[in-house]
Order: sequence, then C-alpha cells, then structure tokens
Amino acid sequence: MKIVLAYSGGLDTSLALAWLQRTYDAEVIAFCADLGQSEDLSEVRSRAERNGAAKVYVEDLRHEFLTRYAFRALRADAVYEGKYFMAASLSRPLIAKRLVEIARAEGAEAVAHGATGKGNDQVRFYAGITALDPAMRIISPVLEWDLTTRSAQIAFARAHGVQTPAFTSSPYSRDTNLWGSSVECGPLDDVLLAPPEEVYTATVPPESAPDRPELVRVTFERGIPTHLDGEALGPVQLVERLAERAGRHGVGRIDIMENRLVGLKVRGVYESPAATVLYEAHRELENLVLERDLFQYKAGMSRRYAQLVYDAKWFTRLRTSLDAFFEDIREHVSGTVTVKLYKGSAITVGRSSPHSLYHPDYASYEADNGYDQRAGEGFSYVWSMPARVAGLRRGGASWT
Ligand code: ARG
Ligand code: SIN
Repeated sequence: MKIVLAYSGGLDTSLALAWLQRTYDAEVIAFCADLGQSEDLSEVRSRAERNGAAKVYVEDLRHEFLTRYAFRALRADAVYEGKYFMAASLSRPLIAKRLVEIARAEGAEAVAHGATGKGNDQVRFYAGITALDPAMRIISPVLEWDLTTRSAQIAFARAHGVQTPAFTSSPYSRDTNLWGSSVECGPLDDVLLAPPEEVYTATVPPESAPDRPELVRVTFERGIPTHLDGEALGPVQLVERLAERAGRHGVGRIDIMENRLVGLKVRGVYESPAATVLYEAHRELENLVLERDLFQYKAGMSRRYAQLVYDAKWFTRLRTSLDAFFEDIREHVSGTVTVKLYKGSAITVGRSSPHSLYHPDYASYEADNGYDQRAGEGFSYVWSMPARVAGLRRGGASWT
C-alpha cells in the first residue's frame, strides 16, 4: 500500500511517518508544504528521509497560498468571530488539494495527516480531500494509534529509531505560515493568565516597541495589495516585509476564546502582523470607494465567508459564489492607504483612490458649492413621515 502523508516535521507527523509504515506495511510518501513557516525545510526533508519516507515532496506553496486563499479572504474582509484572520484555516484546503494531487500522481491508495480529534483541522483535511476525491481513503494516525502519552511515544521512537524533534521542546500546539501563526494548549489553557512572552515569535511586546510611530503606505490594485511605500512587490515579499515592519511595532497580537467547529471553546493566541495592517487598509479603502448600500450589505457576506473558511467548506459552491460577488466588487478597490504603526496599533491616517466617492466640495462645511442644503429640509420631512404619523397616533405619550 502507498500512503501520502502531510508531513510538518514535527513530533506527531514524524511518529506518524514511522507508525504508518509499520502498521499498514506501507510505502509512505511525505509531503511538506512550504507556507513560510520559517523553519529549515531541508532539515524537515532529511528527517523524513531518515524516518523511511519512500519519497519526499517539499513544495513552495507560498505564492499560491496567498493569491488563491489568503488574499481572497482579505478581499472578502473575512475574519472569524471578528478577530481571527484564519491563517491556519486557509492553509488546510491547499494542503488537502496537494495531498490528493500527489496521491493521484503517485498512484497512492490513501492520504494521511496528523491533526487531532479535538480540532478543526481534521475536518478541514477530511472535507477537502473528500470533496476533491470522494473515493480517497483518509488515515488519521493520531486517532488510531495508542501512542497517547509522551512516554509511549518516547518508547516507540526508541524502539524503532524514529528521529523526532526534541520531545521536551514545547508544551504548545503551534501552526505557522506567512499569513500568521497560532498557538494553543499548554500554559495557555489557563485562560485567566496572560500568554507567556515565549509564545510570540513575530511581534515584540507593544510596550517595548519603538517610541516613534512608523507610517506605511499600502497600495491595492483591484483589491490586491501590490505596493509598500510605492515599491512594487510580489505577494510573498510584500507580506513578509510588512509582517516584519508591523511586528517590530507589536502589531497583530490576538488573544481570544474561540468557538471551534467541533463544539469546544478553546483559547487561541495568534500573531498576524501583515494581515492586521492589510485588513485595516483594505477596509478603509473600500470605505472610500464603495457606496453605502454595498459597503454595508457585504458585511453579512464577509461574516458568512469567514464562517465557511473556518468551517471546512472551502470546496463548496457557496464559497465560489461568494468569491464571484467579491470579485465583482474589487473592480473599484484600487488606491493607497497610509497606516500608522505604533505600540501595537495599526491605524489608518490617510487614503486616496482614483475611484474615490468622497466629494470634498459636497461634504465640506466650509464650501457651499454644489450641495443644496435647503434640499435637506424636504428630505428630512419625507424621511420623518413615519415618525410624524406615529407621533400623532401616540398623542405625545412619553418614550422609555
Ligand atoms: N484554532 C485555529 C483554527 O482552527 C488554529 C488551528 C491551528 N492548528 C494547529 N494544528 N495547531 O484555525
Ligand atoms: C489540531 O488539530 O491539531 C488542533 C487545532 C485545530 O484544528 O483547531
């Protein structure tokens, strides 16, 4: 039997790589997606080889991840429960897609992943794989094996000479890519306590950020970020640079109680410095160029989009339909927004766009050319007709 395993190089998937070979008498192909997790992937590759992988795929998927997943969420202004930018959630469908493609190319009968039974990721992998190849067998070693304690894992690793990262290295469950990172478990399970500083890797504590603010100008072309401070950058470079700049100002830390799809409330600590700035800038740009009805209507679509990304429904007609809606909107979403980074905050301080609907002559209290203020009275009269009628009916009764 041939199995393609989504391999991160971490403890669980290293054990899984060895365990699958023994349990299923299988040839295991390891697939590691480079999503900008800032790890030494040559080390991950050689660990897979040393653990008996029949073949190892390490693929740079950063560009595809940003342009086809993360930027679509950005364009949709999709944020789960108002705060989480879904860096992990957005990556799972892409990993699932490549797992299926590699399995097909290699003639494998099954794919495997290391997600736990208490999490969302298992559902995202499952839903993605099954949508793309309904006949594909999906194996979850972590749910099947009896290596449920550290000591059992150490014994297994010793007995079979499995190379893993240090068993003692971290009490946390981490997932990192260039759109953001997540940390769960360990000391974070005490939700009363502030996260220990060690959980953060991409941002400085806001209180030790520079005392001088920094301005960053973000340019969008048709809803996609293309320039920083006037310099044209590809998606990967742009996000990496912005993450670094914003991270230096402590921007992008999030600490939330989160409602998982599988019914649990879990504490999640996230860092998304680049996404924080890009969402802020994008939202302000849309506020400049979209008419009121559209701007307000799409908020519901944004919430729905976030929900479906989080809920493992990437490969659905609802997602492609919502994307068609946001695709249409982006036509006018071009322009530049200046964001001030300062001690953990990212605040818009300026914006411009050739498609701006802001009309200074009309809006200003200073000038009086164009907008006929007297028309306001007639408007108010008609607008208030229901209030007038209701007021007559109430006969002056007081309101609570
Ligand atoms: N709870 C977040 C989500 O569902 C983060 C998951 C991170 N995954 C991980 N294996 N640590 O998107
Ligand atoms: C996991 O599956 O590793 C837990 C995180 C999650 O999926 O929410």
